[in-house]
Amino acid sequence: MANIPLYLLCIMVLLASNSIHSHSQQDEFFYAGFNEAATNITLNGGAVIEHKGIIRLTNDTERVLGHAFYSTPIHFKNKTTTKAFSFSTSFAFAIVPQYPKLGGHGFAFTISPSKTLSNGYPSQYLGLLNPHDLGNFSNHLFAVEFDTVQDFEFNDINDNHVGINLNNMVSNKSVKACFFTDGSENKQVQIQDLNLKSGSVIQAWIDYDSSRSIIEVRLSPTSSKPSSPILSYQVDLTPIFKETMYVGFSSSTGLLSGSHYIMGWSFKINGESKTLSLKNLPSLSSHNTRTRKALILGLTISFVILIVLTTGLAFYFKMKNNDVIEAWELEVGPHRFPYKELKQATRGFKDKNLLGFGGFGKVYKGVLPDSKTEIAVKQISQESRQGLQEFISEIETIGKLRHRNLVQLLGWCRKRNDLILVYDFMENGSLDKYIFEQPRAILRWEERFRIIKGVASGLVYLHEEWEQTVIHRDVKAGNVLLDSEMNARLGDFGLAKLYDHGENPSTTRVVGTLGYLAPELTRTGKPTTSSDVFAFGALLLEVVCGRRPIEPKALPEELVLVDWVWDRLRLGAALEIVDPKLAGVYDEVEVLLVIKVGLLCSEDSLERRPTMKQVVRYLEGELPLPELDVFGVKKGGGGRQFEGMYPMSPFFESVNTWSSTGGYDSSLSLSGGR
Ligand SMILES: *[C@@H]1O[C@H](CO)[C@@H](O)[C@H](O)[C@H]1NC(C)=O
Ligand SMILES: *[C@@H]1O[C@H](CO)[C@@H](O)[C@H](O)[C@H]1NC(C)=O
Ligand SMILES: *[C@@H]1O[C@H](CO)[C@@H](O)[C@H](O)[C@H]1NC(C)=O
Ligand SMILES: *[C@@H]1O[C@H](CO)[C@@H](O)[C@H](O)[C@H]1NC(C)=O
Ligand SMILES: *[C@@H]1O[C@H](CO)[C@@H](O)[C@H](O)[C@H]1NC(C)=O
Repeated sequence: MANIPLYLLCIMVLLASNSIHSHSQQDEFFYAGFNEAATNITLNGGAVIEHKGIIRLTNDTERVLGHAFYSTPIHFKNKTTTKAFSFSTSFAFAIVPQYPKLGGHGFAFTISPSKTLSNGYPSQYLGLLNPHDLGNFSNHLFAVEFDTVQDFEFNDINDNHVGINLNNMVSNKSVKACFFTDGSENKQVQIQDLNLKSGSVIQAWIDYDSSRSIIEVRLSPTSSKPSSPILSYQVDLTPIFKETMYVGFSSSTGLLSGSHYIMGWSFKINGESKTLSLKNLPSLSSHNTRTRKALILGLTISFVILIVLTTGLAFYFKMKNNDVIEAWELEVGPHRFPYKELKQATRGFKDKNLLGFGGFGKVYKGVLPDSKTEIAVKQISQESRQGLQEFISEIETIGKLRHRNLVQLLGWCRKRNDLILVYDFMENGSLDKYIFEQPRAILRWEERFRIIKGVASGLVYLHEEWEQTVIHRDVKAGNVLLDSEMNARLGDFGLAKLYDHGENPSTTRVVGTLGYLAPELTRTGKPTTSSDVFAFGALLLEVVCGRRPIEPKALPEELVLVDWVWDRLRLGAALEIVDPKLAGVYDEVEVLLVIKVGLLCSEDSLERRPTMKQVVRYLEGELPLPELDVFGVKKGGGGRQFEGMYPMSPFFESVNTWSSTGGYDSSLSLSGGR
C-alpha cells in the first residue's frame, strides 16, 4: 500500500524536476548529436536531421538555404538593467563542398528575432538577409559567418574566412580561418591555417563578455578550447539584441554548393558553455564502416531511385509552366545549365550551328528545348584548371552585371575542363562584320553614332556604375554585338581574366587584341580602365574609317590607323578618311567629333586619355572637347609599338592575341595557341 504513494511521489518529483529542468533549458543546452525525434530544433529550407544524428543545413542543390534554430526563444537581456547578457556557445561543424576546393557559400551562427529568417536570400546572403535589408538596424541580427566564397560586394577578404556581422553581410571584422595551438613547456603557441571546406570536423567557440563588451571567436580541429581567440571584437550587443532572441544556424548554397553539417552544439547564457568532445559526436564518415557490398547495393538502389526521380521530375517540370521564376533567382545571377540541355539546344554542337570563333572559343547558336529561347553558347577549352576555378567563382558577379548595352550572361556549365557560357542571342551578329567585311547592309552614320554611344555607356557602367570596377580588356568591333534593333551590346566582359592564371608569373601575358592594346599594357601587363579607353578609341576610328586599326595590306603610311588619322587631321583633311561605304552621307560635325574623341582616347600617355564618363559627355555634346594638340604630338603616336612587327604582318589577320615577355623593345612572341 505504502508503495503506491511513494511511486506517485517519485513521478511528481520527476515531473517537477523535469519542468524546472526545461525551464532552465532556456538559457542553457547541450547536444552531442541530434536525435531525430525530440530535439527542440526547428528546421526549415533544405535543413534536415540525418539519421546519424547530424544536422545538414544544405545539400548539394544550387541556391537553397537552410536554417536550424533552437525552438525556444532565449532571454538575452537583464529585465532590470536592459543590458545584454554574456553568452557562450560552441559547436562542431563540417563543410563538404560539391567540388573539391570550391565551396558554396558557407554558414553562420546566428542570433536573430526570428527562427525562420523568411526574408533571407541564398548565395552570398547565407540565408540571413536580402539586398533590401542589408545594414538595417531593425534586423537585430548578430551572426558569425564561416564563409567559403569571396564576395567582393561585401568586401570579403578571401574565400575561407570567419567574420562577425551585425545587421549586415559586410563583416565588422573578419579573419582568415586559422587556429592557435596551445603552448606547453617545450612548445610555443603557434598559429595554423585551417581550411573550412576541407570536409573535416572543426569546433568553434563564440563567447561574448557583456561586462567588457567583447566578442571572441576561436576555432580548433580538436576538442580542446584554445586560449587565444583568432577574432575579438569590441562592441556592446545591447542595441542589437531584443529581449528574447532565437539562436541557431543559417546557411545557403549558390551556383556552387556544398553540404554544411552541425554535429554538436552547446550554449549557455552568463557562463561558459560546455566544450564538445569531438570523438563522442556522430561521425560523417560512419558509413565507411559498412561493408563495401552494402555500399554498392545502396548505391545501385539510390541510382535506380535517382533515375526514376529525375525522369519523374523532368516530366513534372515539363508539365509545369516554365515561366515561374522566383524573384530571387533573377536577382541572384546566372544559372547552371545541365550539359544535356545545351547539347540538345545546339543539336550536339554541330558545325551547322556554329556562329563563329571568338577570341576564346567557338560560339554556337542554340534554342533552349523548353522555352524555345534563342541563345548563344560559347565553348571555351581551358588548359589551366586553376583559371577555370577562379573564373567560376566570379561568374556570379559577372552574371549580375545588367545593362542595356551589355550582352547578358544567362548561365554556364562546366564539362571537365571545358567551360560553356550561355548568353542572350544577338540577332544581328557582331559589328566587325558590318564594318570590315562585305556587309549584309551598310550601316548608316546615324546607326554607327548610336552604336558608339551605346558601347560608351556600357563601358561607363562597367568602369564606374557597378559596385566594383570591371575592366573589359578586350574592347573591339568583334566584341560589339547588335541586337534585333541594332542596339550595341558589349560582349565577353570578364573573360580575359581566364587567361591570367596558371602562367609563369615572371612573364606577363597580355590579353587583348593587336591594334587595341594600349602601349603601357605591353610594358606593365596591368590592364586599367584607361587601357579600355585606348581600345575604345581604336574602335571609334574603325567605325568612322571602316577599316581595322592595323591594316597590313594598306600603304605603309596607312598601316597604323591612328597615325594615318593624325596625319590627315594635321593636313586639315580629316574627312578623307571617312569610310567610303558611307558614300558621303553623314553629319560632318558628328564625324569630326568622333574622330577627335577617338584620337584623344588613343593618346600614348594614359594621363591624357579621358575617362569613359567624359567620353560619353563629349559624345553627347555636354562637355566641350579639349583642343587637340595637333602639332605637338610626336610623329608616330601609338604606332611605335608596332614598328618591329611589320614584317610579321601576314600573321596579323589570323592571330589576335599575343604575349609579350617584356617591354615592347624586347622580342615579341605571338601566341596563337588558343
Ligand atoms: C527539449 O525540450 C523539452 C521540453 O521543453 C525538454 O524536456 C528537453 O530536455 C529538451 N531537450 C533538449 C535537448 O534541449
Ligand atoms: C536539397 O534541398 C532542397 C531544398 O529543400 C530540396 O528542394 C532538394 O530536393 C534537396 N535535394 C536533394 C538532392 O536532397
Ligand atoms: C540584472 O541586473 C541586476 C542589477 O545589476 C542584478 O542584480 C541581477 O542579478 C541581474 N539579473 C540577471 C538575471 O542576471
Ligand atoms: C529598415 O527596416 C524597416 C522595417 O522593415 C523599414 O521600415 C525601414 O524603412 C528600413 N530602413 C531603411 C533605411 O531601409
Ligand atoms: C559594425 O557594427 C556597427 C554596429 O555596432 C555598425 O554601425 C557598423 O556599420 C558595422 N559595420 C562595419 C563595417 O563596421
